Amino acid sequence: SPPAVVAPSILSADFGALGAACSDTIEQGATWLHIDIMDGHFVPNMTFGAPVVTKIRPHVQRPSAARGKGTFDCHMMIAEPKKWVRDFQKAGCDLYCFHYEAAITSTAAENPVDHSEARTNPKEMIRYVHDNGMLAGIAIKPETSVDVLWDILENPKQEEIPDMVLVMTVHPGFGGQKFMASELPKVKALRERYPELYIEVDGGLNEETIDQAAEAGANVIVAGSAVFGAKDPATVIKVLQESVEK
Ligand code: DX5
Ligand code: ZN
Repeated sequence: SPPAVVAPSILSADFGALGAACSDTIEQGATWLHIDIMDGHFVPNMTFGAPVVTKIRPHVQRPSAARGKGTFDCHMMIAEPKKWVRDFQKAGCDLYCFHYEAAITSTAAENPVDHSEARTNPKEMIRYVHDNGMLAGIAIKPETSVDVLWDILENPKQEEIPDMVLVMTVHPGFGGQKFMASELPKVKALRERYPELYIEVDGGLNEETIDQAAEAGANVIVAGSAVFGAKDPATVIKVLQESVEK
């Protein structure tokens, strides 16, 4: 099975000292950085865009291998995921994780300026992210059935296969929400069919909820408030990591 990865979500970090927060969390044992991009449209909250990612990139060493330490895991909670691929690649994103729900509704009608850029579908999006030199992730909200993913994962075209699936365990938009154990059967179903797949869980993960998520088969653990709100973040990171490894 794939390695355990702890990806602190910088949504709960001090935005006034973001560079230091990023380098600190890597020093404290984090494997990746989970970077939440929100556009106030796909989700009812806003964060920041590519310019901020550009500024924090020098604070964290680039991964030496695909999905290695220092990976910038950008969680794109945005209505037009295709539009920002190039900007995020230039900013230093390593893994561009878009939402399935945005990819299927991102139609030309929503972007009258550039129809070709906006019209997309999940498989095309994955190919487009790969063509732009990044790993591709696909995320599903709690409302979305895991069944939409089978066709995408079964695709014989290698370049259209995602490098990671993100199963949301809260409704996206805010940190510090309650973990939804109701989403774990999705993780279990994915793990049963795909022993090597990178499966990420995001929302409400902490020392209390980690065991259920790990048991279901998640190997990439996002944690925002649990890490950045802790007195001793290194210990929390270690507990999350070891809970997946055991
Ligand atoms: C929620 C974000 C999460 C969030 C998790 O929309 O995608 O990454 O930061 O925060 P916690 O770990 O506090 O639930
Ligand atoms: Zn996230």
